[in-house]
Amino acid sequence: MNKSLFRVLPLAAAVLLAACGPQGGSSAPEIEPPLEGASIGGDFTLVGKDGQPVSWSDFDGQWRIVYFGYTFCPDVCPVDAAAIGQGLRQFEKDNPELGKNVTPIFVTVDPKRDTPEVVGEFAANFHPRMVGLTGTQEAIDAAAKKFVVYYEIGEPSEGGGYLVNHTNQTVLFDPDGEPVALLPTDMGGPAVAEELAKWVK
Ligand code: NI
Repeated sequence: MNKSLFRVLPLAAAVLLAACGPQGGSSAPEIEPPLEGASIGGDFTLVGKDGQPVSWSDFDGQWRIVYFGYTFCPDVCPVDAAAIGQGLRQFEKDNPELGKNVTPIFVTVDPKRDTPEVVGEFAANFHPRMVGLTGTQEAIDAAAKKFVVYYEIGEPSEGGGYLVNHTNQTVLFDPDGEPVALLPTDMGGPAVAEELAKWVK
């Protein structure tokens, strides 16, 4: 092999690879998941509604929709959770086999008020299989960091209540626990169902 050919080969190989579409007759081009390779997610051990420990690895083999928020949130969290629930129900209706392998997970950033029972009941209101998780402040902090969620407890009001500022993001993870895409909960249930249909295969 002469030197100039050797230099050209890697480029030729790249072109060939790019020209190789998915085998098997699908005409749709493969689209890379927007969050592919992003450092979002990872192991945690939190507490489920019955007080039992729940770990990230318990969901291995399942697609997961993960949202961090708090049950006393006056506006955004309930709306987002409702869109997740509605979107997943729609997706399950259209794709029963795939749908049952998608687990929505709501993690509180307000463990002081969101006991296992409170967050469990809140989650179940939006979808019967939505898992509500809480834990020690340390465990929640560690999980929030891994899932790139920022939050800050606000000043208490006269009545003693308080708001929690927090990142509102809904992330879809694949059965290996890798991030796939953000779900557009701000656009409502049908948009969430549509996005699920795009990735959950
Ligand atoms: Ni909220």
